[in-house]
Amino acid sequence: MKKKTILVTGGAGFIGTNFIRHALAVRKNWHIVNIDALTYAGNPANFDDLAPDHAERYRFIRGDIGNASLLERIFSEENLEGIFHFAAESHVDRSILGPERFLETNVIGTFRLLEESLKFWENTGKPEGFRFLHISTDEVYGSLGTEGYFTEITPYDPSSPYSASKAASDHFVKAYFRTYGLPTIITNCSNNYGPYQFPEKLIPLMILNILEEKPLPVYGDGTNIRDWLYVIDHCDALIEVFEEGKPGDNYNIGGGAERQNIEIVHLLCDLMDARLGRSGGGSSQRLIRFVTDRPGHDWRYAIDATKIRKELGWSPNHGFEEALETTIDWYMNNMDWVNTVRSGEYKKWIEINYEGREI
Ligand code: NAD
Ligand code: TYD
Repeated sequence: MKKKTILVTGGAGFIGTNFIRHALAVRKNWHIVNIDALTYAGNPANFDDLAPDHAERYRFIRGDIGNASLLERIFSEENLEGIFHFAAESHVDRSILGPERFLETNVIGTFRLLEESLKFWENTGKPEGFRFLHISTDEVYGSLGTEGYFTEITPYDPSSPYSASKAASDHFVKAYFRTYGLPTIITNCSNNYGPYQFPEKLIPLMILNILEEKPLPVYGDGTNIRDWLYVIDHCDALIEVFEEGKPGDNYNIGGGAERQNIEIVHLLCDLMDARLGRSGGGSSQRLIRFVTDRPGHDWRYAIDATKIRKELGWSPNHGFEEALETTIDWYMNNMDWVNTVRSGEYKKWIEINYEGREI
């Protein structure tokens, strides 16, 4: 099979790590170049245990996607056939406390990557199969009430600095298709969960706090709804879109697993109590605390994934409860990983974000 070289940005983060590990396994002719700035969310050690036949098809470059000359060098060194663009500042709460970094990476960084990709694509004779796949979020659509779903034609209506920056980057990506013909595709996915997720996000934060018998901070009344997708199902969808999707199009990706935050916290308590032998008055449910809500907190996200199901034949392979159990087991068996990512910077974040919230 002919060698295919793919650039992944932000591949040392949560989804990027899962994507690279999965893609090396399911696409034996893919060689992956990962550029990652290694912010607090990136961990290059996620690849230390790659099997030798995977490791030889993997190259890591530490660098910022905002660095045009570095990008230019990578494009001149590697005969790239496509890009999976994951790199982003990705945490809503951090965007509320410090939005500027979100503009720098998500908007300017994406712009620089588009510019260098366009130059490369034009200079190499506009190769037919080249794709620029931009990994975006359902949060660009804003919040739903009790009814309805996000479709690919739902108008953008972002609420947080994070989702506003992702919306802006999506618009640039689409503009580079319409204006210059660069074969871009955008995916808008719902909330992911699974191994290697940084423990500032709901599911890993709750797993670790339950394990360590710390308070479980539920924002507002806990009725907010997210549509959860196991990360490997997301990765399969991205490969499908990259290989079969139509340039210029958007594809919504979702798990069809809507849950209220409080339901998830209850479920995690039950599943972990069974593992930890806690019951009765000692149940982890006693740790739940309703805390000050997130400002501008979107109430409900829910994806209509009809387009990707019908046009590309993708659907999730993992049920929510089963994959949540896999995720819990991964964290419980990988406390060394957890302790590595919970550096001094992580502790500072926990103090800033939760100290100000009334309990
Ligand atoms: P993450 O925060 O875990 O990882 C982001 C990675 O990007 C990190 O490794 C970080 O070091 C790197 N990075 C940040 N700024 C960079 C820069 N300027 N240059 C190079 N690398 C940089 O995020 P994630 O959860 O893996 O999300 C990946 C992508 O998927 C993001 O674009 C996000 O918007 C999108 N997305 C995430 C979810 C989700 O539930 N996590 C859902 C839908 C879409
Ligand atoms: P999060 O994992 O930050 O993802 P997103 O904001 O991108 O959806 O949060 C998921 C939901 O969980 C969201 O409604 C906010 C809520 N949440 C809490 O209730 N407590 C917490 O400590 C965190 C981090 C999130």
